[in-house]
Amino acid sequence: MERGQQTADAEIGKQEDLSAEIGAQHSAYRARRAAGNAPEIQPRLDFPPYRSSLLRHPTKNPRHVDPESIELASPAFGHTDVGLLEADLTIAHIGQPLGERMTVQGRVLDGEGRPVRHQLVELWQANAAGRYIHKRDQHPAPLDPNFTGAGRCITDDDGWYRFQTIKPGAYPWKNHRNAWRPAHIHFSVFGDAFTQRVVTQMYFPGDPLFPLDPIYMSIVDQDARDRLVATYDHSLTSPEWALGYRWDIVLTGARATWTEPEGGDE
Ligand SMILES: [Fe+2]
Repeated sequence: MERGQQTADAEIGKQEDLSAEIGAQHSAYRARRAAGNAPEIQPRLDFPPYRSSLLRHPTKNPRHVDPESIELASPAFGHTDVGLLEADLTIAHIGQPLGERMTVQGRVLDGEGRPVRHQLVELWQANAAGRYIHKRDQHPAPLDPNFTGAGRCITDDDGWYRFQTIKPGAYPWKNHRNAWRPAHIHFSVFGDAFTQRVVTQMYFPGDPLFPLDPIYMSIVDQDARDRLVATYDHSLTSPEWALGYRWDIVLTGARATWTEPEGGDE
């Protein structure tokens, strides 16, 4: 390793150091669970291996706002505003996007397993090469002129959503040297009012980057992390066309899907 590289590693941290810190936090959590403490299903907001959040994570309790007054100025949508074709990210341009075509389908549920109907579900993602169309994304991977990477739909009477897209690629980020995010799709569920909006991420089964990623690993509970990972479902796979994944979003209760705070943007 060259001297310049050693200096850079010392400044921003190496994967080995990050992984050791993550391991220590997780062992301490497992010990607390073994001692009878309740599971922690939400991410640690103060999670030092997630270096780029050190100075921007919330340090005070959330401030509750009056839901009625905020609705006078917050975004709103009507069901007629969302077109059926917006759930297919592969048809937004003249040509087909490159990559592995996939369907992701699942239900939005409350803590009792009841469907959450007529909800706006939005997703955004990198292209198959791991590149976002965003000025802050300078990863030297190609943009795809036939892929924007954003879609939305409304859940049906049984809480189902369904998107056609392409599988996103993993991408590097600047948290530490050689930091890579596992392939993921960002999801937002709007709720009945803007103050209820939740944002989360869906991952793909068996990703070797999971243990190395301080965002995924900021959820110290293995079961809670597993709930962010879609299941490959061959019954959702379309012959000669697309692979199928199933992923449910549970909004409340002990099996709730992890949701991220405002400002989480990686
Ligand atoms: Fe991302």
